[in-house]
Amino acid sequence: ERAGRCVVAVDGPSGSGKSTVSRRLAVSLDARYLDTGAMYRALTWAVLRSGVDLTDAESVAKVAGEVDLRIGTDPRGYGVTADGVTIDKEIRGPEVTGAVSAVAAVPAVRAMLVTRQQEMIANAGRIVVEGRDIGSVVAPDADLKVFLTASEVARAQRRSAEDAADVAVTAADLARRDKLDSTRKVNPLQQAPDAVVLDTTELGIDEVVARLHDLLTERGVA
Ligand code: DC
Repeated sequence: ERAGRCVVAVDGPSGSGKSTVSRRLAVSLDARYLDTGAMYRALTWAVLRSGVDLTDAESVAKVAGEVDLRIGTDPRGYGVTADGVTIDKEIRGPEVTGAVSAVAAVPAVRAMLVTRQQEMIANAGRIVVEGRDIGSVVAPDADLKVFLTASEVARAQRRSAEDAADVAVTAADLARRDKLDSTRKVNPLQQAPDAVVLDTTELGIDEVVARLHDLLTERGVA
């Protein structure tokens, strides 16, 4: 049943404004919201807790497969738990941020999470999903695919403001993660050929959300 269904895929690098735009759009569409990056972060937290070697893909996949991962889909606030432990803050910490690209590069981990994400999307019906491979792999049939970009300077400034960290350090870390996320073999950060590309360097959040609204209206899906 397609009636009322509306899936919006939002992809792009860190600091491109994905999270803010996706949450706001979900609220205004009265839709659910799925932060797939938080899922990779939660598994990374569990892998770090287990103490297995991050470069041992088989062990990483085994730990990931045994974790009871739960994530909410309320755009106004969602919780993340692993084996019943609330880890909303921990998944934003430097340890997880430093290790997440390695965990997200393990093919078995991606296969597991992609399946999970597809189930959540099917159950939600109306949902905004943000990540790196949503339009290309997770939801290739999305009603709207958005690829957000921004200059490196703008992205580093936004991230360092969020983390209260030094801009130069943040810029170096972003560049490192972007490279890992874009060059990994399985499902790299990828712009779907039919994605609408929006550069948020100069555009305000409200303008981006309004533009996406217009696109959905034009397509008759919202
Ligand atoms: O968006 P974020 O910074 O919370 O994402 C955390 C990491 O997870 C990021 O380094 C890339 C990875 N990721 C991914 O590989 N695929 C996704 N769909 C979402 C995130």
